[in-house]
Amino acid sequence: MKIIFKTERLIIRELNLNDAENLFRLDSDPEVLKYIDEEPPKSVEGIREGLPFAIRQYEEHGYNRWAIELIEDSSFIGWTGFRLITKERNGYINFPDLGYRLMKPYWGKGYATESALASIRYGFEVLDFETIYAEADINNLGSHKVLLKCGMQLDGSFDDEGYKVNWYSLKKAVWLGAQDS
Ligand SMILES: CC(C)(COP(=O)(O)OP(=O)(O)OC[C@H]1O[C@@H](n2cnc3c(N)ncnc32)[C@H](O)[C@@H]1OP(=O)(O)O)[C@@H](O)C(=O)NCCC(=O)NCCS
Repeated sequence: MKIIFKTERLIIRELNLNDAENLFRLDSDPEVLKYIDEEPPKSVEGIREGLPFAIRQYEEHGYNRWAIELIEDSSFIGWTGFRLITKERNGYINFPDLGYRLMKPYWGKGYATESALASIRYGFEVLDFETIYAEADINNLGSHKVLLKCGMQLDGSFDDEGYKVNWYSLKKAVWLGAQDS
C-alpha cells in the first residue's frame, strides 16, 4: 500500500487491484452518482479490469485519483485527488482536475473538505501544479461548498451535453497568498 499523505483523520493512498470491490460498492449507490454523468458499474470484474490503466497513471503522470481510508479503522470511504484531463473541457486541455467521491455513510463529516484541502497542498507543493481546476454539476451543492471551502474560485459555468456545470480554478500564487494571511 503506497501512502501519499495523511491528514488528521485520513490516509490518502494509491488505489490498487484490491480496491475493485470498494469502487464497485461506491459507484453502485445511485445517490453517489446523482450529479455524475456515469453509468453504475455492471460488475466488480469490470472494475478490476479497468484498474491497471488507472494505476499506470501514477507512474506516467505522478498522480491519479487516490483512495481515502479512515485512520481510525482503515475503512475505505472513497477517493480524492487529481486526474490529468487530456481531452478538451470548457476550452482547457491537459490540466489537473480535482475530484472526490465518498460513500454515503461518510458524507457530512468534513472528510471531503479535509481530503481535498490536503490534496490541493500536495498538488502545489509536491506535484508543482500552476493551476488546479475542478467542475461540478450546478445542482451539486455539496461539491460546490467543498470547492469554495478549499479556496477554489467559481469561474462561471458551461454546458456539458445539456447539463450545466460549474467551473472552478485555483492558481498556486493565489493559494500561496492565502497561506500567508
Ligand atoms: C459532494 C461530497 C463529496 C461532499 O462530501 P462531504 O464529506 O459531505 O463534504 P463535507 O462534509 O466536507 O462538507 C462540506 C460542506 O458542504 C456541505 N454539504 C455537504 N453536502 C451537502 C448537500 N448535499 N447540500 C448542501 N450542503 C452540503 C456541508 O454541510 C459542509 O458545509 P459546512 O462546513 O458549511 O457545514 C459527497 O456528498 C459525495 O461524495 N457525493 C457524491 C459524489 C460527488 O458528487 N462528487 C463530486 C462530483 S463534482
